[in-house]
Amino acid sequence: MRRRVLIVSILLVLSVLVVQRLTAPNSPPRVSIDSRYLCAALAAYIPAEELTCADCTYAAVDKSHRLPASYVPPVMPVLLTGGGSLVPEAAIALTDLFAEARQRKLAPRITSAYRSYEDQARTFAAWFRQELSRTHNLDRAFDNASRYSALPGFSEHQLGTAVDLNCDGCAPFDREDSRNIALWKFLEDEGYRFGFAISYPRNVEALTGYQYEPWHIRYVGKEYAAALFAQNYLDGNGVCLSAFLRAQAHP
Ligand code: DAL
Ligand code: ZN
Repeated sequence: MRRRVLIVSILLVLSVLVVQRLTAPNSPPRVSIDSRYLCAALAAYIPAEELTCADCTYAAVDKSHRLPASYVPPVMPVLLTGGGSLVPEAAIALTDLFAEARQRKLAPRITSAYRSYEDQARTFAAWFRQELSRTHNLDRAFDNASRYSALPGFSEHQLGTAVDLNCDGCAPFDREDSRNIALWKFLEDEGYRFGFAISYPRNVEALTGYQYEPWHIRYVGKEYAAALFAQNYLDGNGVCLSAFLRAQAHP
């Protein structure tokens, strides 16, 4: 009798596994975590290294690797809601992503695309000023702004491959708006199919140095985006985009 119960249980488990496999969505196969892709926790102070790449499209730009002020990618205007400029391969991929999002009635809008070194300086200064209106402690205001805004040279937006998306008609970055939430879920679930990665996923601020930014996606090409996605990097497991990109450049 016990033997029969055991056999039936095993058969049940096997059939559940078969059904799960047959009904699994069309996603890349999950692979075990590659330790080269794990980000180290940020040290309190890191002297940043200046990148020397002529074409930095796939370079890791993070709190310890910055672009020179002179780095200007060959961007072109993006003919999508919200506008802005991106490098051609990112603009093409974003056009495809918008088409799919629109089919799903998600109405995306570009809030920010390419930002020059000078644009980034102005952007950071604006957030810093806003933080200073809340606290007169300079260090605290600087630290607060640094959690969501990069210093000039440290922003992926200077690459011409990063873009912030919000719903058309939503307040940008409004985490309460269900239309924004639906769009960002689409970016998380499907963005990799168009070659985009989420640079600052949830629960990894200690690694990236930035708060969760569901709206900020970076074009890295379909192959890299799918490989990263297959590493479950959105689960906060320590795999992060910059470590991944560095490993591709220096295997
Ligand atoms: N918000 C991101 C970190 C940036 O400023 O590039
Ligand atoms: Zn951004």
